[in-house]
Amino acid sequence: MKPTYELPNFFQKLRMNDQPDLPKILNNLACLSVNELKTEVVSDEIRAIFPNLSNQKIVRFISGKNKVHQPKKVGVLFSGGQAAGGHNVIIGLFHALKKLNQTTQLFGFIQGPDGLLKNTSIELNEKRLSLYLNQGGFDLLGSSRTKIEKEEQFHEVSNTVKALNLDGLVIIGGDDSNTNAAFLAEYFARENISTQVIGVPKTIDGDLKNELVEISFGFDTATKTYSEIIGNISRDALSAKKYYYFIKLMGRSASHVTLECALQVHPNLALISEEIEYNNKTINDLVSEISDMIAKRASHGKDYGVILIPEGLLEFVKEVKILISELNIILSEDKLAILEMDAMQKDDERYEFIVKLLTEASKHFYQSLTREIQMQLLEARDPHGNVQVSKIDTERFFIELVTKELKKRAAKGLYSSKFNAQPIFCGYEGRSCFPSNFDCRYCMTLGYVAGLLINEGLTGYMASVQNLAKNVDDWQIAGVPLLNMMHFEQRKGHLKAVVKKALVDLESALFKTFADKRDDWVLLDDYQYPGPIQFYGPAELTSKVTLTLLYKGD
Ligand code: FBP
Repeated sequence: MKPTYELPNFFQKLRMNDQPDLPKILNNLACLSVNELKTEVVSDEIRAIFPNLSNQKIVRFISGKNKVHQPKKVGVLFSGGQAAGGHNVIIGLFHALKKLNQTTQLFGFIQGPDGLLKNTSIELNEKRLSLYLNQGGFDLLGSSRTKIEKEEQFHEVSNTVKALNLDGLVIIGGDDSNTNAAFLAEYFARENISTQVIGVPKTIDGDLKNELVEISFGFDTATKTYSEIIGNISRDALSAKKYYYFIKLMGRSASHVTLECALQVHPNLALISEEIEYNNKTINDLVSEISDMIAKRASHGKDYGVILIPEGLLEFVKEVKILISELNIILSEDKLAILEMDAMQKDDERYEFIVKLLTEASKHFYQSLTREIQMQLLEARDPHGNVQVSKIDTERFFIELVTKELKKRAAKGLYSSKFNAQPIFCGYEGRSCFPSNFDCRYCMTLGYVAGLLINEGLTGYMASVQNLAKNVDDWQIAGVPLLNMMHFEQRKGHLKAVVKKALVDLESALFKTFADKRDDWVLLDDYQYPGPIQFYGPAELTSKVTLTLLYKGD
């Protein structure tokens, strides 16, 4: 008998029909209301920028008497990079809004902030949304990274929300997108536009977190996906015994992804950018450190191994940090330099142009880099002014420098083994895959919380779910003012108010556990093989949370 090819395939369908468990508190939405909690004071500088949002309190939802809820019109969009579970946020939002009032309407903006600016949206319904339950990607609506900061952009957005008569707008995004959300909330409040703005914490990077936002969605799935891959590669290293795998891991500036994966897989070496910055390490220091490890293993007959490199690493190395900040100033948008350089066709021309503008120290360092890295550092910043670290081949850069260093050592008779390396980048494959059960539940709950915050008439808040390391029944739901998360940062050469990126805390129990164990991993080949994400089977496998979450706050 011929096999039948059904679309969508069996696994997609299986996931589509699996309703995620939700916290008990969401059983009856009609009776929920908010309690205001004591809130940290926002700095005067931030208050001055957001006068209309500066007196908000953290709110927690509690059950009370059933109430009748008014119909609403709400818009939703994805903003920034993909993170697994995004569709469940929208489905959770839809379900919550409909449960509160059946006549409420939800509109999805196409291609994220771009759709909001141009007013391209579709009305979402149950039938369409049901095809996306527990599925990966953001393809229901798409996304973009456009920063909303100019007066004319705010004006365009206000035209959109007025045209659709929106009571609420939900922005599913990372730190930069939630910065957009805060500025929009302030603008609407200032202009007496009644649309409320609510943010949802999304990013595989895990850097959008604080005391009240335990983790961003997508981190769980991405780190489990990468840990599976790194485990498989480690086994390949151990089997063939002929390669060093230099694995760059996505995660932007912070090393949360690398730290989590290191604790899951036990590679021979894992670099943590925040520690490197703290110890003021230079490129030479890192090259020596890696080469020492390789030489040590070689002396035990091991010419293979696994090295993890966070994608933002170079930003934290002393001389690169200085170079990047000089480049940021030279290439900041309001300077003619960027236009002039963009017009140049050849890499050599761009190189000559830029070295003339650098300080002596940076010029010297820039000249020592490979032409590829020199050009990658000149690549356009993203619309929020971040260096696009995923475009820098840091893994190849280190392979090249370590090869040179080992050759030097060999010439002096200090090293006599074989060194063969393979560069690997774990990035995009971890962003749009099927969300883990944790992310399925967490995202759906976040969607519900966003709907409830809008129903309460709140604006300038982020949806928050707490107690995430516990059983889903015990999760608590809250709203955190976006201003509580803001501080000032250099962007495109200027100080800007932005939602703070959380970096790895070197005093945390998680980092200390890693620091205690890592020396054993240099020689032992203590590789662990976490295997693929499990959706069905024993809860120890299907509901396992990350170590980052388990150690949170310790
Ligand atoms: P967000 O911060 O928008 O969630 O994006 C995260 C990320 O995946 C980073 O880890 C990575 O550096 C970047 O996006 C890559 O961006 P792009 O998708 O534009 O290549």
